[in-house]
Amino acid sequence: MTDHPPSPYAGPPRVFSGVQPSGALHLGNYLGALVKFVALQDQMECLFCVVDLHAITAWQDPAALAAQTREIAAAYVAAGVDPKKAIIFPQSAVREHADLAWILNCVARLGWLDRMTQFKEKSGKHKERASVGLYTYPVLQAADILLYKATHVPVGEDQKQHLELTRDIAAKFNHDFGAPGFFPLTEPLIEGPGARVMSLRDGLAKMSKSDPSDQSRINLTDDADAIAGKIRRAKTDPAPLPETVEGLKDRPEADNLVGLFAALSGQTKARVLETRGGQGFGAFKPALADLMVETLAPVTQNMRRLMADPAEIDRILADGSERARAIAAPILAETRKIVGYWPGS
Ligand code: AMP
Ligand code: TRP
Repeated sequence: MTDHPPSPYAGPPRVFSGVQPSGALHLGNYLGALVKFVALQDQMECLFCVVDLHAITAWQDPAALAAQTREIAAAYVAAGVDPKKAIIFPQSAVREHADLAWILNCVARLGWLDRMTQFKEKSGKHKERASVGLYTYPVLQAADILLYKATHVPVGEDQKQHLELTRDIAAKFNHDFGAPGFFPLTEPLIEGPGARVMSLRDGLAKMSKSDPSDQSRINLTDDADAIAGKIRRAKTDPAPLPETVEGLKDRPEADNLVGLFAALSGQTKARVLETRGGQGFGAFKPALADLMVETLAPVTQNMRRLMADPAEIDRILADGSERARAIAAPILAETRKIVGYWPGS
């Protein structure tokens, strides 16, 4: 989208990200988001939100939504996010998100939203039947980020366009209201081999909660046998692994599995191929499955333990909500003033 001049924003660095409580988490969420959250919590102030307002843009069973929200919070903690350092909270607990989203709905342009590819994918053939909320979803996402003046947002590659839109909205707000540097132009943190984890059944489709085939993804709740079976059955081609990254070109499934090995072991794909180039999938797949089980088993175990104690999760969420509100309230108050709302409101 638009290239913006360097931001005159001078506030402190701050991280914001969110995951929807709309179904079980998978390896793509873990590598694309959670692993980065853990690394960032020691570097900057971090807010990790469970975005239930976003989740209801598609139908969610009201009887299940709160449990799903607790489950995402449990996954954050199980993956290694420390609730004493990072702020973990549900979006619905901080009403300021919806308040700012309305203001930003009036800043964002229809033409910008018309270009959002995720809306096109999610609304499918019957766009007129999608909720209006699904259409303005990226504006709510911009509100999440700007409500805290977040400067950095760790996400998977599929969120790139939404973060460009966030920058466009921030720049237009600052410009239209004559408030240069009021909102930062947020930087996405997307890089690394885990940023785009593909389906195990089709190397050209993204691993996703909504794929009807459970064989296409590794769920954070899968046990060792399930993981080993899914990796064994993962689609591949007959050739052995290449010696260099260039050799992965036009081999999307091989590329994905090498990328997974790299992300799970904290190496580059080039490094993995230096040691594994020439190996066939008969040998590579079991090594990958072992590494995956080794990495995910403690996370899964922690998650089960936490889910058995919902009161503890609720304490974490209540404390996080209070800390989030303390940052959000003054920023929203200032924004409302800039917009010119009646000062008594
Ligand atoms: P969602 O489940 O859509 O709320 O996504 C939560 C986070 O996981 C976001 O940062 C996404 O970009 C990331 N994510 C989702 N699917 C993938 C994937 N297949 N590969 C990498 N990151 C992903
Ligand atoms: N749209 C994101 C996703 O589906 C979730 C999200 C909502 C988010 N608000 C956010 C991510 C703010 C980063 C920052 O993955």
